[in-house]
Amino acid sequence: MDRIIVNGGTPLNGQIPISGAKNACLTLMPAALLSEEPLTLTNAPRLSDIRTMTELLESLGCEVAALQDGRVLVIGTEKISNHTADYDIVRKMRASILVLGPMLARDGHAVVSLPGGCAIGARPVDIHLSGLEALGADLDLRDGYVHAKAPKGLIGATYELPFASVGATENLLMAATLAKGTTVLKNVAREPEIVDLAECLRAMGAQIEGEGTPTMTVEGVDRLHGATHQVVTDRIELGTYMIAPVITGGEVELLGGRRDLVGAFSDKLEAAGAVITETPNGLVVSRKNGIKPVDVTTEVHPGFPTDLQAQMMALLCFADGTSVLEEKIFENRFMHAPELMRMGADIEVHGGHATVNGVKSLKGAPVMATDLRASISLILAGLAAEGETVVSRVYHLDRGYEHVVRKLSACGAKIERISE
Ligand code: UD1
Repeated sequence: MDRIIVNGGTPLNGQIPISGAKNACLTLMPAALLSEEPLTLTNAPRLSDIRTMTELLESLGCEVAALQDGRVLVIGTEKISNHTADYDIVRKMRASILVLGPMLARDGHAVVSLPGGCAIGARPVDIHLSGLEALGADLDLRDGYVHAKAPKGLIGATYELPFASVGATENLLMAATLAKGTTVLKNVAREPEIVDLAECLRAMGAQIEGEGTPTMTVEGVDRLHGATHQVVTDRIELGTYMIAPVITGGEVELLGGRRDLVGAFSDKLEAAGAVITETPNGLVVSRKNGIKPVDVTTEVHPGFPTDLQAQMMALLCFADGTSVLEEKIFENRFMHAPELMRMGADIEVHGGHATVNGVKSLKGAPVMATDLRASISLILAGLAAEGETVVSRVYHLDRGYEHVVRKLSACGAKIERISE
């Protein structure tokens, strides 16, 4: 298994290009199931999660061509030849559930295994299912699979999500595009990836209003056509690399970065001592003086994203004082804390709260990645720690960070990947 070795203590200086958003691409790809004509996605990130979604779509009968070294994906779904999303693929990635809404909307039936994914809590799919039922689907849960039917097609309805789930909003939005009549979705998620999906669906001929607000209205159409859509910038990769020059010192320009994608996060990063400047090419980040403690609560967008909590914790380990991080989206999402403590961090976790007492320095150590965002937090900590940090189980990282070693070493980081 590969490992990443980081030798800490070098300030980062240079530029890091930010890729297209993994989480946007993972919902745009299944949207191709809604049309007989091809969907072309540009600015796709090259990640193992994207390959897993490709494998899943191919198993359903889609033809997926990865052009320009994987930057452009052309997905053709003339016919869905298999309506079962198998456990062997779905268990690798929770976003697989996003094929359910499109298949059901287009052909009136679908069978999808209940998903797995990162080990960061129970993560049920009850909202996806109750929303599809509200649109007239008949669901049966058997043998670990959801068997869904809507023989006469889905029918527009008003549905209020009990929680603004990102995935459920995406599944329901896609399903509603081909439902008969009007669908009103209330208390929907407002993440930039949802706005990106709505824009792509509109380019395919869908009639959608209200993306980015708590209520979306969808006027169902008979069919969607092909389109070309550019995947939005990855705000989580952006936020992660914005932390790098703050934790190590130095100055890094994040190419393609936009502050509106990381508003709440940027406010907290500035409170912790970052200086963020908008440039024609993106955002420049550096650090003024020392790292200050800040309290952080994760919330649905536009609040502080849960996907940046682990990285923020790595930074706050070095703060001059005590910070409290509250995780409100996922239970059990502090698995990076014990690994950071192996490096000398002073952290106490009580349920959904972590108290981080800043220390003068961390010391490199062997650590283990436990999930995607946890693994990059250990790399950030390693960049600022004294000595050598060896991160194992880096396959988690490959799910969501493209060329992490290349991007960081271009800014002077001493980081290498060892294959075994
Ligand atoms: C998406 C992102 C993930 C991010 C998360 C929150 C993708 C591929 N993944 O995940 O990186 O961390 O948003 O910003 O886009 N829940 C239910 N029932 C449901 C659905 C969700 O109880 O039917 C709960 C979950 O267990 C969790 C919370 O709602 O506690 C948030 O989940 P959700 O917003 O659905 O996240 P995902 O779409 O899975």
